[in-house]
Amino acid sequence: MQFSFDINSIFKTQITKIDNNLLPDGFQGDRTLTEDVTKKVDEVITALGGESAKAQKLSQPITTGQKVKNQTHNVYILTDPKGKEGQGTAIGILKTGRKNLYLFDTKGEQRQVSPVCILDFYVHESQQRNGKGKLLFEYMLKEENIKNPVQMAIDRPSSKLLNFLNKHYGLKNVLPQSNKFVVYDGFFKNSKQLPTKPQHSKNVQTPKSNKKSAAITKPPWLAGEAVRNKPLNSKALRNKSSNWL
Ligand code: ACO
Repeated sequence: MQFSFDINSIFKTQITKIDNNLLPDGFQGDRTLTEDVTKKVDEVITALGGESAKAQKLSQPITTGQKVKNQTHNVYILTDPKGKEGQGTAIGILKTGRKNLYLFDTKGEQRQVSPVCILDFYVHESQQRNGKGKLLFEYMLKEENIKNPVQMAIDRPSSKLLNFLNKHYGLKNVLPQSNKFVVYDGFFKNSKQLPTKPQHSKNVQTPKSNKKSAAITKPPWLAGEAVRNKPLNSKALRNKSSNWL
């Protein structure tokens, strides 16, 4: 994606980590520069978030500059420094964040956990299937000190992302949850159970349909085995208006 300003002057490395101050990791500058850079980073995040939503056919973007500002998430921006005649283009975005979640383990036990989650992931159509997603993902794993993506939960993964995780990390057996997060078989081996009772906690993600009763619906796979590869209609899963589960 092209912008009216010089992308390379804002994003000095191919991948840049940004948190809720909307400034590139390690940024230093006076007040005027800070305001200018923040505005431009906001514009880039919002534009990439919008493209990601379009690619996933979502009615609302999951990622905007404003949302990043108001949350404790990390955003990784991938640029092509050679794009737009050396001014650079922005070609990918990956958003992660820790969430308190109720999840069912393989035995049907409800667990409260707080994993780092993959919340949004997008590489520009012109650059997909070219290793760019892997580059971005690997960078994130190092930054977040995650040894294996099986430790992560994924918020409504698309079929492309399921394929991506299968291809690059051999992740196969998904355990989709009622709150539309997905974890893989193996997730619960090392995950720490949180000590508190979660039902009344404000920050815990419970299934929308069950918020009033605070009872949590068991996901359908609990009736059988962990599901191999394409366990679900991932498009429906990603679509917020879907009634899946
Ligand atoms: N169809 C099926 N699998 C695909 C596709 C596709 N069109 N595109 C990528 N993949 C998977 C495949 O496993 C592919 O390997 P292959 O080409 O040998 O089949 C592998 O990803 C390619 O790996 P990379 O080149 O490293 O990844 P890429 O740069 O394509 O980025 C990403 C992957 C981010 C999923 C990208 O395809 C994309 O932006 N898709 C559209 C948006 C999207 O679905 N994002 C995930 C939403 S869910 C969430 O964010 C929690």
